Amino acid sequence: MAEEVKKRVFSGVQPTGKVTLGNYLGAIRNWKPLQDNYDCLFCVVDLHSLTVSQVPAELRKNTLDLTALYIACGIDPDKSILFIQSHVHEHAELAWILDTVAYVGELNRMTQFKDKSRRHADNINMGLMNYPVLMASDILLYQAEYIPVGKDQVQHVELTRDIAERFNARYSETFVVPQCLLNKAGSSIKSLQDPSAKMSKSDVNDNAIVTLSDEPDVIRRKLRRAVTDSDSDAHCVRHSADKPGVSNLLNIYSLCSGESVAEAERRFEGKGYGVFKDAVADSIIAVLEPIQAEQKRLLADKGYLEAVLKSGAEKASRIAQKTLTKVYRKVGLVPQIR
Ligand code: TRP
Repeated sequence: MAEEVKKRVFSGVQPTGKVTLGNYLGAIRNWKPLQDNYDCLFCVVDLHSLTVSQVPAELRKNTLDLTALYIACGIDPDKSILFIQSHVHEHAELAWILDTVAYVGELNRMTQFKDKSRRHADNINMGLMNYPVLMASDILLYQAEYIPVGKDQVQHVELTRDIAERFNARYSETFVVPQCLLNKAGSSIKSLQDPSAKMSKSDVNDNAIVTLSDEPDVIRRKLRRAVTDSDSDAHCVRHSADKPGVSNLLNIYSLCSGESVAEAERRFEGKGYGVFKDAVADSIIAVLEPIQAEQKRLLADKGYLEAVLKSGAEKASRIAQKTLTKVYRKVGLVPQIR
């Protein structure tokens, strides 16, 4: 009997700055269970990081840290393809072709581009504007069907769909049109200092985010400083629209402890915010400590990491090469005689 062909999943995180608890709960954590049912590729998207200014040595370190983190979070290199984007040159090459299909107008309208242009006004480079096209290239190269990402990336996946459909219409059926695999609960983790904004690794206020490398005492301190709400119901641990700060902490607690929000509300009834915040911190620490230990162990084993990355890049390249060859032929480029 023919082996069942699994649908393909692709996702990636930039090795820029520190991965936050929001990135983990909203994206990376949900990758592990996908590995059994899908044919997964998980990529460290280092080329994307270059769209904001980087210190080269730090980018190199962050890239290896993130690779180890993927594995520590349960990505199994024997089940999934784990690789670094720049190791597979087809990403940049397909991006060029897709650049001729994407419109300036639609890239100019991207929320993240507008946002980053505001925050990096001194460095609005072409790469920043092109960022979503490179992301489309990541996804379309592998004919991925499902893209597990946080809410903030939905617009980019939609643009990828538009580009794929436009290319298919212009040059005949070539790309699988992908869709988001959204994790509702985890994709809305907010800043600890401003619960109207998402927890973002580019936040300038260090107290607003928990990073995956934070030590337990740092996590406790940040949680103690987290903004709560000063409504008439002060010190009542309840999930509601008029208590965005407390609701965010309840979401985090629920995701880290596995307890439902309703159960948590009952547990902390009448206990006050101090006790509650310490419990949220403890639930985060319980999740992060084993990951941190495993990441550290992996980073000390350079040979293993290099072997994983070498084999990941080889496997990814085989798929990418096939797609790019097809695309070059469809758009009318003369094949090279080898
Ligand atoms: N833009 C994504 C983010 O910032 C990272 C990314 C790049 C990505 N290429 C991708 C995510 C392809 C999913 C699929 O989170």
